[in-house]
Amino acid sequence: MSRPLGVGLLGLGTVGTGVARVLLGKRDALERRIGRPVQITSVLVRDPSKPRGVSLEVPLVTDARAILDDPAVDIVVEVIGGEEPARTLILEAIERGKHVVTANKEVMAKHGPAILAAAAARSVSVAYEASVGGGIPLIGPFQLDLAANEITSVVGIVNGTTNYILTRMTESGASFADALREAQELGYAEPDPTNDVEAWDAAYKLAILASLAFGAPVMPEQVWREGITQVSQRDILYAAELGYRIKLLAIARLVNGQVETRVHPSLVHQGSMLASVDGSFNAVQVEGDLIGSALFYGRGAGSEPTASAVVADLIALGTSAARGSRQAARHAVELRAMSQLQSRYFLRLLTLDRPGVMAAIATVLGDRGISLASVVQKESVVLGDDVPGAEIVLTTHVASEAAVQDAIATLRHMPVVKTVGSLLRVHE
Ligand code: NAP
Ligand code: HSE
Repeated sequence: MSRPLGVGLLGLGTVGTGVARVLLGKRDALERRIGRPVQITSVLVRDPSKPRGVSLEVPLVTDARAILDDPAVDIVVEVIGGEEPARTLILEAIERGKHVVTANKEVMAKHGPAILAAAAARSVSVAYEASVGGGIPLIGPFQLDLAANEITSVVGIVNGTTNYILTRMTESGASFADALREAQELGYAEPDPTNDVEAWDAAYKLAILASLAFGAPVMPEQVWREGITQVSQRDILYAAELGYRIKLLAIARLVNGQVETRVHPSLVHQGSMLASVDGSFNAVQVEGDLIGSALFYGRGAGSEPTASAVVADLIALGTSAARGSRQAARHAVELRAMSQLQSRYFLRLLTLDRPGVMAAIATVLGDRGISLASVVQKESVVLGDDVPGAEIVLTTHVASEAAVQDAIATLRHMPVVKTVGSLLRVHE
């Protein structure tokens, strides 16, 4: 009988536990599929005394050498998260001639090219399907199934935690803090949820997808990034009144030969496909010259969906059907500055409630070529010290980001404008 396929597991948290459960629960099916048994050899954790959601008969170790130096380990599964020590452990596994499966979008977005080059030099594979979109197949399709296309656009919701938070705030008026706590309890959030709510996680995922789609490395710091912490219940209510929902969108588009990459909260039409993607679900819409439009939709976070992608990578490696590394650069890609964006905008302001205020605001916008599409002003609000104020919500026709940012800078300094509450982009 052939030797078992040895799996060294780095991490036994939400994803690691899911992977271990699948490897144990589907032991026979996996053996039939791969042609030999799959065996977890040992598991790296920080604290072996912690209660675990899975019962394993192998040691929980705190020294990675016990896994990396073990000749019985064929594949190292990295589900620790974060940049270090994950990056170093992945490189050390490669150096020792082991294949790697990782769910780590931060490491792959920041160090993917170096890691994949190291793997190619050692003739091993690094598979990272779980790093984007949880259980939704995305890396494989971009590497293989869409390869004949010239991709022109990748637009989606790629963070389950923020989508869960925005859904709960929209549907039941939950507070941001309560919704985040729920997302953490459900295992959707990153170990440090700042990565989710400040959109780092989505920026890492977009960098990975854009690199695959456009055939040249896009680094996370090249992605324009705004998180959801500034999105308030009032924005959600006004957006609904105007016929929109607010979603954290990740967008990579080819515009005049340049690639625009941005992640920020956006207003999407209530009837649109993206507006109906709720909770921890993700969706990515891809446009290519041959395929037209393709939609990938499913559970973007959580233990089981993510384990599905990790174990699929294990099966592929175990059957030597690995989907290969990131595509080599096909051509140089020039990134488009955010200031060149053309979009519609949603602006919420708190102002003094006085004659001429609306005219003054309209002049600032009009002087910069920004045309108003709608204006909402509700009954007066009290600003403090009994000063009467007004909450004004404006949407614009298509305008340039540079002009809008210039207008905002001017509005912030006007005595009649008390607060620029929010500036959101409208996705068409
Ligand atoms: P998690 O629940 O926090 O689990 C992390 C695990 O790694 C824990 O078992 C922890 O040990 C161990 N660990 C952390 N730092 C370590 C260190 N320095 N040395 C040894 N062990 C260490 O995280 P997770 O949610 O499973 O996420 C893991 C990875 O999967 C991340 O890259 C994440 O982005 C990615 N991912 C997560 C999801 C999801 O829905 N959660 C989906 C897709 C991808 P202890 O248990 O002893 O603390
Ligand atoms: N924290 C991530 C999310 C996990 O919420 O989408 C899945 O990558």
